[in-house]
Amino acid sequence: MSKKTQEEHNPLKPIIAHAKEYGFVFPSSEIYEGLQAVYDYGQNGVALKNNLKQLWWAAMTQWHENVVGIDAAIFMHPTVWKASGHVDSFNDPMIDNRDSKKRYRADNLIEDKAAQYEKAGDTQKSAALLTQMAALLEAENFEGLRQLIIDEGIVCPISGTANWTEVRQFNLMFSTEMGSVADDSNRVYLRPETAQGIFVNFLNVQKTSRQQVPFGIAQIGKAFRNEIVARQFIFRMREFEQMEMQYFVKPGTELEAYEYWKEKRMRFLQAILPAEKLRFKIHEKLAHYANAAVDIEFEFPFGFKELEGIHSRTDFDLSSHQTFARTKLQYFDEQEPDKDKRHYVPYVVETSIGADRLFLAVLSNALTISQGVDAKGETKERIFLKLHPAIAPTKVAIFPLTRKDGLPEKAREVFDEFRYDLSTVYEDRGAIGKNYTRQDLVGTPFCLTIDHQTLEDGTITLRHRDSTEQERLSVAEAKAKILAATSFKTILAQL
Ligand code: GAP
Repeated sequence: MSKKTQEEHNPLKPIIAHAKEYGFVFPSSEIYEGLQAVYDYGQNGVALKNNLKQLWWAAMTQWHENVVGIDAAIFMHPTVWKASGHVDSFNDPMIDNRDSKKRYRADNLIEDKAAQYEKAGDTQKSAALLTQMAALLEAENFEGLRQLIIDEGIVCPISGTANWTEVRQFNLMFSTEMGSVADDSNRVYLRPETAQGIFVNFLNVQKTSRQQVPFGIAQIGKAFRNEIVARQFIFRMREFEQMEMQYFVKPGTELEAYEYWKEKRMRFLQAILPAEKLRFKIHEKLAHYANAAVDIEFEFPFGFKELEGIHSRTDFDLSSHQTFARTKLQYFDEQEPDKDKRHYVPYVVETSIGADRLFLAVLSNALTISQGVDAKGETKERIFLKLHPAIAPTKVAIFPLTRKDGLPEKAREVFDEFRYDLSTVYEDRGAIGKNYTRQDLVGTPFCLTIDHQTLEDGTITLRHRDSTEQERLSVAEAKAKILAATSFKTILAQL
């Protein structure tokens, strides 16, 4: 398939178009033709993303008494990345096509081929190919990987040729120099995950927070990866945000904590996304330091893909930092009856989700196209964003029916009632119907219209986004209803 045809068949196309048209996501530096896999959030996008981040923060640090938050710097001592294993093994196997000069992830080319077999109904062939690839990756047999690509007749989607280079390992970390001298001794990395900022602060937080094991440290922050195959919009970005939590437990209790967090994280996601679009995918092959791992997958428009990872990472990270930093990272457990076992390096259960990936899941799920009948009785397509009211960028929009008879003044009064508590917009231009449509497109769950009756009895019309139903209420009643529907409590109560 040519690049152009691929773009035409991109199932994300309507979402990318909507995101751009209505101020959610723009390509970075667009006037310079953009920067691959880097995106900017617009006025509605930043509001939605902030709401998702605040919701996650509340679910972790507010709802859980034993989880606290930190905000570590992006730059860290370079040895952190040696200890974590990222310098030596945060690699992807890459292959170049000599004719198009394009670089691909070797495993992605093979996975695409397996998906083609699957689509054609040859499930066995697909599974066999993936097994063969996994064995070659495990053995770091890159020549074998290249041969498999050639044997499978895989060609470059741009040039259409199989003129492949050898497969090479490519480290995904971005680096730069700190200070004025540009040499290797000053090399620092842009963190590829936020987790290490938590590990190195484990004792600082434990000693200053009065937390006792088991307890968690949560963090939201930017991470950077030089993703080579940057496809699928904000699903795989080079600069993105992670929401991670490391839960420190007594060795031997980690699998219990792992089960707890699996359930809690699934419940959180099910509160804002449909249950049938979420599933667990247990890792059959574990990293050498993990003793259990699962992904929560979401059904994106291009299929089920990883949204969040939950890993039981044993004491790998803390022990490795102990060795590299030559500092004890042990916990003193006062409750432990056996004196000899009171000092230990805690085990860790990690939950890790990308804020941008959650944004994409929420946005793609919310984009709804339904058939409706307009005022003239004609069938019309209606597009709206069916976002949970608690995460919608704007919670309520307020319109006077006309721009005269004192209605704008009254509408401004109502606006003042709401703006202190909720993100509210006021609009007195345009017809009411058009204003409703504009708010539907950005997912505003409630619209209030102020008309002549409002001046007489103080009631307004409350219009509901999803059903388009309208009801007549006092301002106080409408406010109580909207506050209840947009509260994080509606979500946190389901955890
Ligand atoms: N600390 C563990 C860790 O970083 P990961 O599976 O590499 O694990 C965790 O990443 C989550 O971060 C993923 O499930 C995904 O939601 C998000 N993520 C990872 N790479 C990403 C990228 N390039 N763009 C957007 N989100 C990404």
